[in-house]
Amino acid sequence: MATGDLLVVWHPVPASVAALRDAVLAGFSDAATSLPVRSRSAPDAGPDDVEAAAAAVLVTTENFGAVSGLVKDFLERIYPWFEEVPDRRPGLPYVVISKGGSDGTGAVRDVTRILTGLRWKEALPPLVIAGPLADDDVAAARDRAATLAIGVDTGVF
Ligand SMILES: Cc1cc2nc3c(=O)[nH]c(=O)nc-3n(C[C@H](O)[C@H](O)[C@H](O)COP(=O)(O)O)c2cc1C
Repeated sequence: MATGDLLVVWHPVPASVAALRDAVLAGFSDAATSLPVRSRSAPDAGPDDVEAAAAAVLVTTENFGAVSGLVKDFLERIYPWFEEVPDRRPGLPYVVISKGGSDGTGAVRDVTRILTGLRWKEALPPLVIAGPLADDDVAAARDRAATLAIGVDTGVF
């Protein structure tokens, strides 16, 4: 049985990201695990949230072809720079959700590279949303979050 929180960290600006965050929270709820849920905007999230996590979903926008500055700031603050082998929750199962105006893949590239360095485990393929948010995107975010939560709770991830 897994212990720890189901963590979602989200870029705090556009309404579309808030809708995706809410979809993730709905997915966590769908999974009906006993794991506590922790929702943090990127500026409010930090090492303690990560240390307490059993799994994480990161929801970012793509800005200037890259991960949003605020999500990058979060990743910089949790990254243990001075350890030869970074050791901040190695193996933590995660999913990234990227919202772009027309693309979104650049943010996924950045997050994946950084989290590979942290040795987190990509539990499910990233969800990339290019253009206006559609109902299918919200449903896909909810589904990914539920699958992540069930998978971590049952030891699949
Ligand atoms: C400064 C800035 C840079 C951006 N750069 C990109 C970009 O490189 N690629 C992209 O797909 N969208 C880009 N966008 C669009 C955002 O990703 C978009 O505003 C966000 O996904 C929210 O989308 P929405 O307006 O549909 O809610 C940028 C937005 C801002 C504010």
